Amino acid sequence: MLSSPLRHIAASFKPRSVALASRNARTYATETKIPINIVEVGPRDGLQNEKGVIPVDVKVELIEKLALAGCNNIEAGSFVSPKWVPQMAGTGEIISRMHRLPDVHYAVLVPNQKGLDGLFSVLDTYNQSSHSESIPPPSDEISIFTAATDAFTRANLNTSIAESLVKLAPVARTAIDKGLRVRGYVSVAIACPYTGQVDYKKVREVSKELLEMGCYEVSLGDTVGRGTPTQVAEMLEEVKKDVPVEKLAGHFHDTFGTAVANVFTALEHGVRTIDSSVGGLGGCPYSPGATGNVATEDVLYALQGSKYSVTGTEYGKGSIDLDKITEIGWWISGKLGRESISRAGRALRAKKIRDAEMAKDGEVRAKL
Ligand code: HMG
Ligand code: MG
Repeated sequence: MLSSPLRHIAASFKPRSVALASRNARTYATETKIPINIVEVGPRDGLQNEKGVIPVDVKVELIEKLALAGCNNIEAGSFVSPKWVPQMAGTGEIISRMHRLPDVHYAVLVPNQKGLDGLFSVLDTYNQSSHSESIPPPSDEISIFTAATDAFTRANLNTSIAESLVKLAPVARTAIDKGLRVRGYVSVAIACPYTGQVDYKKVREVSKELLEMGCYEVSLGDTVGRGTPTQVAEMLEEVKKDVPVEKLAGHFHDTFGTAVANVFTALEHGVRTIDSSVGGLGGCPYSPGATGNVATEDVLYALQGSKYSVTGTEYGKGSIDLDKITEIGWWISGKLGRESISRAGRALRAKKIRDAEMAKDGEVRAKL
């Protein structure tokens, strides 16, 4: 009988053939990556809180650029009250004008029946047009939203959680009957700006109700951007008691710099869809102090070489092109009068500039 430490060593020893087989197994495992989806929320969540006027042309161009970078899920805007969120006022015009790609889902946020009616009127115009056979519709998806605390729901929707669910159920039903996909959001899934720590049981209950209304997926929002990976794990463990994890998405604002870690925590818990925002744009007008969503660039960069692969359109070679997203992050930030705040976006841009300078130096030296 081997003593305990030796038994441990013996157990860890593998003959060469076994060692080779396990190396091959590991190689195989990394080649068959786990597909994950990114929902690009920059045109909506990213821009809704901007104070200055952003021209419709810029918003249209942003959405078109994102689709051409490979994004296959883009939140294009909101049909909410312009008195509540003025920046989203032109959404009907934007989704009508933007060039649409067939394999991209263009979603819009809808808070109530009036918002859905606004979308229907855009879709009616499209249906009556001569090009409705050849051009994809302005939108094929709505996102309905509520929250895990009454205080936040009151601030964001002027109603309680229970009332919001009663109002949203027929909206979801009508949208589904008209052939639209319906996604749900539960805001303040970790912390509420008005009442603090959130009861995760409430997140579970509200998520379940949204799925029962017909949402194909529920996105859990750390609206405040204060969550830690431990809290995200605890919240997901609670929600998963009642909701299949494949129906969940993670939506992490990055106020405290934990969003990329929270993304990985969610992925490790089986979540396969992550919301992110190009250039790290964004914030919710009713979550004071919260900054933008996790930057799409930061997520794409951190996922490189991992067991996950991001799905995308042919324009991103089946994924989402990090270089193109970085450029878009800088482009839209420039339009807003500032620099990209994505950490990866800044580092990649700086490296590109350094590389270009070195190449120029090399050319000069070669000529001497
Ligand atoms: P209310 O004041 O109770 O609404 O607001 P109302 O029914 O009394 O109507 C008031 C006025 O708004 C009326 O106009 C309506 O016609 C008009 P008036 O007669 O005064 O001229 N109105 C609308 N106009 C256009 N589109 C509509 C619409 N509805 C009413 N859909 C309401 C209730 C739901 C309208 C309001 O609270 C609202 O629009 N809230 C939206 C707030 C919002 O967009 N927040 C940001 C998005 S959520 C978010 O960012 C979180 C998320 O990212 C996830 C996360 O991070 O957690 C998704
Ligand atoms: Mg948000």
